[in-house]
Amino acid sequence: MTDRPVYLITGATSGIGRYLACHFASKGGALILHGRDEGKLAEVARSLKRVEVTQVLADLTDASQIERMFEEIRKRHKQFDVLVNNAFGKLEDKLAEADLGEVSKHVQTCLAGTANVIKLSIPFLANSKPGFIINIVADWGVPTHNVLTGPSVYVATKYAVYGLGVAIQSELGEFGIRTTNICPGPVAASTPFGESDKAFIKENEDRAIHPETIANAIDFVTSQQFAHIKSILLSPTKPDYTGF
Ligand SMILES: NC(=O)c1ccc[n+]([C@@H]2O[C@H](COP(=O)([O-])OP(=O)(O)OC[C@H]3O[C@@H](n4cnc5c(N)ncnc54)[C@H](OP(=O)(O)O)[C@@H]3O)[C@@H](O)[C@H]2O)c1
Repeated sequence: MTDRPVYLITGATSGIGRYLACHFASKGGALILHGRDEGKLAEVARSLKRVEVTQVLADLTDASQIERMFEEIRKRHKQFDVLVNNAFGKLEDKLAEADLGEVSKHVQTCLAGTANVIKLSIPFLANSKPGFIINIVADWGVPTHNVLTGPSVYVATKYAVYGLGVAIQSELGEFGIRTTNICPGPVAASTPFGESDKAFIKENEDRAIHPETIANAIDFVTSQQFAHIKSILLSPTKPDYTGF
C-alpha cells in the first residue's frame, strides 16, 4: 500500500461507515464515500477536514445505479486500494412479521449489492498491489459462532456475505486482491460520538465494541506484507456475553 491509500467506503453516511471515514481521513488517506442520500453524504464530507473526498451515490438495490457510481469514480480515480463493504439494510423483523417487499429489498441490498460493488471494484483494486476488500460482516455471519438468535433474514444475509468473502478469496487472488471478513458483535456505532454515545460506551463497555477497534483491525489487515488475514472475529469483553 502507498503512504496515502485511497479507501472506498460504502454506507458512509452513518454509524461504522462514518466513523471509518473520520478515522482514515485523520490518517491522511483519500476517500471515496458512498451513500444513497445526497444531503447526508455531503454533510459527512463537509465534516472531514484536510482530505480529498469523492462522493458517490447509489441505492444498492439497483444495479444500474451501482454501474453509474463506478463511472463517476472512474472520472477521478484509476485505482483505489481498500474497498470497505459496510452498507447493509436493517431488516430487524422476524420472518413471520416481515413485509414481503422489504425481505426482497434487504436481500438485494445486502447480497447482490455487495457482490456487484465487489465485481466493479476489481479493476481498481487490481491496480493497487495488493488491493484489499474488507467485508464488515457480523458475529451473526460466522457459521461456527452463532451465539445469538437474530432476525433470520438479516442473519442469513450476513452468512451469505461471509460466504461470498470466503469464496472470492481464491477467485480474486490472481488479481492480487486480498479479502477479509471482519465480524464484530454489537458495536456502539453512532458517529461522531456525542455525550450520550460516550455514556453508552462507558455503561456497556463490556457489552459493545468501540468502532475504533474495527478501524484498527482494518489498519492491521492492510499493513501486513507477508500474510493475508482472512477473517477477524470481534466479541465484547464480558466473558459470558450472550447479547444485550
Ligand atoms: N451496529 C452494530 O452493532 C453492528 C454489529 C455487527 C455488524 N454490523 C455491520 O456493520 C455495518 C454498518 O452498521 P451500522 O450499524 O453502522 O449501520 P447504519 O448506521 O445503519 O449504516 C448503514 C449504511 O448503509 C447504507 N444503506 C442501507 N441500505 C442501503 C441501500 N439500499 N443502498 C445504499 N446504501 C444503503 C445506509 O444509508 P442511509 O444513511 O441512507 O440509510 C448507511 O449509510 C453493517 O454491515 C452492519 O451489518 C453492525
